Amino acid sequence: MEKKRLLLGITGGIAAYKVAELAHLLSQNAVNVQTVMTQSACQFIAPLTFQSLTGNPVFTDLWGTSHSYNMPHINLSREVDVVVIAPASADFIAKLAHGITDDLLSTLCLARNCPLLIAPAMNRQMWENPATQRNVKILRDDGIHIVGPVSGIQACGETGMGRMVEAVELAQTITAFWQSNRLLHNKNILITAGPTFEAIDTVRGLTNKSSGKMGYAIAQAAVESGAKVTLISGPTCLTPTAVEQFISVESAQEMLAAVQNHIAQTDIFISVAAVADYRAANISTQKIKKSDSNLTLELTPNPDILKIVSTTPNPPFCVGFAAETENLVENAQAKRRKKRLPLMVANWAQEAIGSDSNELILLDDKGEHVLPKAPKIEQARHLIKHISTFF
Ligand code: C5P
Repeated sequence: MEKKRLLLGITGGIAAYKVAELAHLLSQNAVNVQTVMTQSACQFIAPLTFQSLTGNPVFTDLWGTSHSYNMPHINLSREVDVVVIAPASADFIAKLAHGITDDLLSTLCLARNCPLLIAPAMNRQMWENPATQRNVKILRDDGIHIVGPVSGIQACGETGMGRMVEAVELAQTITAFWQSNRLLHNKNILITAGPTFEAIDTVRGLTNKSSGKMGYAIAQAAVESGAKVTLISGPTCLTPTAVEQFISVESAQEMLAAVQNHIAQTDIFISVAAVADYRAANISTQKIKKSDSNLTLELTPNPDILKIVSTTPNPPFCVGFAAETENLVENAQAKRRKKRLPLMVANWAQEAIGSDSNELILLDDKGEHVLPKAPKIEQARHLIKHISTFF
């Protein structure tokens, strides 16, 4: 069995003592654990404990020159499948939320290209403080997995929410996370995202309000599931996660060409892009001059990229998105039939476009599956899990 690789980050909190047990459990279960500790963590527990339990040297310093890595803040995260921070202190959560990188652990978290899971631990007032809750929300929206905390008697003597989950439970969560993350291991997934831009003249064009957030979230969830992801995107303000290939396009025709270039190697095609249905029949090679009379533009239909792919012989598994303003399920079902899709995702256009969360209804041969309103990254993970049931 392939040995799993995990980077265990320990920050300053008394719950650090429980993490010695976690390191032991993981190491016993064929996980290669690489430990990084903050200076505060070293006040609570010695690095030697983790070196002894994991068999690997422990890193504590951003500036150290004694280890073999020339840039540990980059190299360390590139060599692991997941980063787990336990305990995650209020201070570290705040740093993560705001991208502050003043030590090795915070810097490597920002530089990482793999999922991050954190187990918060702190006094109940610190946990309930609006500042911490705001920061936790930011992390959730950023797609960081948060495990716990739980309620109980705290080291300070108070009782309430803020205890770190127990080591055994955390080890089980990590294992479950891992299993769910390998659901589409090595599958080739092609995703289109964002709007398209259809030029009218040299400076103007037709587009729509799609932000690309759903497609990019699906790309991230697909990467987490172990898939090899190619993301073809229309113009957006987003930065993609570590996909295998990112292709930037402008028009529907460019998007179609990029899709056709990649479709032969594709197992799953997820068409999230809000492709413009029409383009200008003739693109003016000069900026169109203003006049006082009406201007009539002749529009011609764009190719339906998804339909072209889904109706070819031996198509990949095709997933469509239907953003509707009325009769959501009926309209989405009609599109599913017309495009012969095994899976169609329906959402309300007014709720979905540009926002960070939405409700999805998955339509397949077994019926309707409602995913109640949640951040897009969570919806993306549910969708990937649903897609994996077809394989
Ligand atoms: O037909 P309608 O545009 O509503 O269907 C939406 C689905 O079809 C989306 O998955 C979208 O990405 C895809 N589509 C496409 N090419 C088009 C129009 C829509 O791939 N020209």
